[in-house]
Amino acid sequence: MCGIIGYTGDGNDVLDVLMTGLSGLEYRGYDSAGIALTNGSLSIYKRQGELSALESALPEGGLDGEAGIGHTRWSTHGPPADVNAHPHTGPDGNVAVVHNGIIENYRALREELAADGHVFESDTDTEVVPHLIERELAAGADPEAAFREAVGRLEGSYAIAAVFAGSETVYAARNESPLVLGLGEDGHYLASDVPAFIEYTDRVIYLEDGEFARLDADEVVVTDADGTVVETSVETIAWDPEDAGKSGYDHYMIKEIHEQPDAIRKCLRERVEEMTRSITVEELANLDAPESVQFVACGTSYHAALYGARLLRERGIPAQTFLASEYDVDEIPVPPETLVVGVTQSGETADTMSALRGANRAGATTLALTNVVGSSAARECDHVMYIRAGPEIGVAATKTFASQQVALALLASTVTGAPSQSFVEGLRKLPDQVRTVLDDSSAREIAETYERADAYFFIGRKYNEAVAYEGALKMKEITYKHAEGFAAGELKHGPLALVTDRTPVFAMVTQGSKPQKTLGNVKEVEARDAPVVAVTDSRELVEPYADFVMEVPETHPAFTPILANVQLQLISYWVANRLGRSIDKPRNLAKSVTVE
Ligand code: F6R
Repeated sequence: MCGIIGYTGDGNDVLDVLMTGLSGLEYRGYDSAGIALTNGSLSIYKRQGELSALESALPEGGLDGEAGIGHTRWSTHGPPADVNAHPHTGPDGNVAVVHNGIIENYRALREELAADGHVFESDTDTEVVPHLIERELAAGADPEAAFREAVGRLEGSYAIAAVFAGSETVYAARNESPLVLGLGEDGHYLASDVPAFIEYTDRVIYLEDGEFARLDADEVVVTDADGTVVETSVETIAWDPEDAGKSGYDHYMIKEIHEQPDAIRKCLRERVEEMTRSITVEELANLDAPESVQFVACGTSYHAALYGARLLRERGIPAQTFLASEYDVDEIPVPPETLVVGVTQSGETADTMSALRGANRAGATTLALTNVVGSSAARECDHVMYIRAGPEIGVAATKTFASQQVALALLASTVTGAPSQSFVEGLRKLPDQVRTVLDDSSAREIAETYERADAYFFIGRKYNEAVAYEGALKMKEITYKHAEGFAAGELKHGPLALVTDRTPVFAMVTQGSKPQKTLGNVKEVEARDAPVVAVTDSRELVEPYADFVMEVPETHPAFTPILANVQLQLISYWVANRLGRSIDKPRNLAKSVTVE
């Protein structure tokens, strides 16, 4: 999804800050990039494609600048093209604007401006903004007044930043799209997300919806829509920039897969006490036990939510899972004492935020289960529980899925009371068991065998159902191959027609998740010549029917799917690697999906 960076100050080279910032935002997904620097006039460079395309368009000796803004674009209005890339400017070339979000009334604004003689170059919704600003400037407004007036005309979601020719000030505004300010010693920063400037400063202010910011080298002023100065709180971010490097791995994704033992350990730290067999999540100390739970989430987080809902139902709490984009409180009853849990790694996913806002309006208690401190979900929900996975740069979610599952196990246990001995033990053993899977996996060899398959199917029952969906999603995302996940019992109700000797079936056959019944489904596909890869804690059971066996250590049945999923992540990674795919930035996808 689009990313924004901005900087004003004399401590660092402006161009360096912008390019470093854009590369720190690459993980969000993008198809073009651009920058604007103020240096008396405005220098604007933008290119479709990767950052390297923008780099090669820049002048060889660098660029002087007093302030600047940059943008990675993920197309919504108009295809990826140089002309649609940001920054955009107006007819006089006096202002440059970058924008993340969607301006819903842009057609009306465009018509209004066109009637005034404005001619547009791009297909974007954003281009109306510099035109509105320049119309105000032409009418005599100063830059700040022109910026505020233009933003006041916008409906929809936006994080916007603007710089003006002949000025060192960066102006910004936010509504429903993330924007964070960074306070440095020798200048000030703004960005869609902290990794863009974490190298320069860890002191941040999160802008709220409806707020404006004016950044100068020596001062940051935040105001509300009326221009009244708002008191802000400065937070210090704990992320270490070293965490965001690849540490010798070829891709962030494989690095993050290997970080899972540590991520799980961090999620459990000070929350699980084996001696007293207790689970205490400090953030949830004031959460009343709910009568029922509704989960809202998208993609991988939705799969984690399916897992969490099952754990709660097993413990007697009615729990449902909704795709956030389908959650509509006008249609879905939200009974009193319902807890609505938004499961969202980024805490910024527009569909999930919209569902959580609906739940807030409906009077539910809301809980954000997220990775990102200070994210919109964390700030807008009544309660927040952090999964503590650390930064995840690969677009495909891996370690955050494991951490979400672990956090959901802790949540289920917190709201339902004393966990069993084996549950606590299972949690404590999990990091080492994930390490064992990582060390012993034969995924690379299996991926080589099946890299040219027509399609990949994933099946599992009970706890493994959600992981079957997740295994297929990962395979689709990074290999661009057809993959589907099914509740194993469903296979014979239709999808079996797709099964051939060119469609490997990955079957999770594990204790506590109806292994005998799943074995029946394995026999069905084996009888139709499909290659079978069994992911199992019971090798002897499946060996006669499987072409390959991928083992996972024995544990409490609730945690077996976390281990099985690691095997599936590795399979997808190695197939994608063999096929030479863009693993960390798969085509068309974005890390943080901030449009509905
Ligand atoms: C898949 C993936 C996406 C996200 C989804 C929700 O690998 O990363 O499916 O899970 O876009 O994102 P969050 O969790 O940030 O709300």
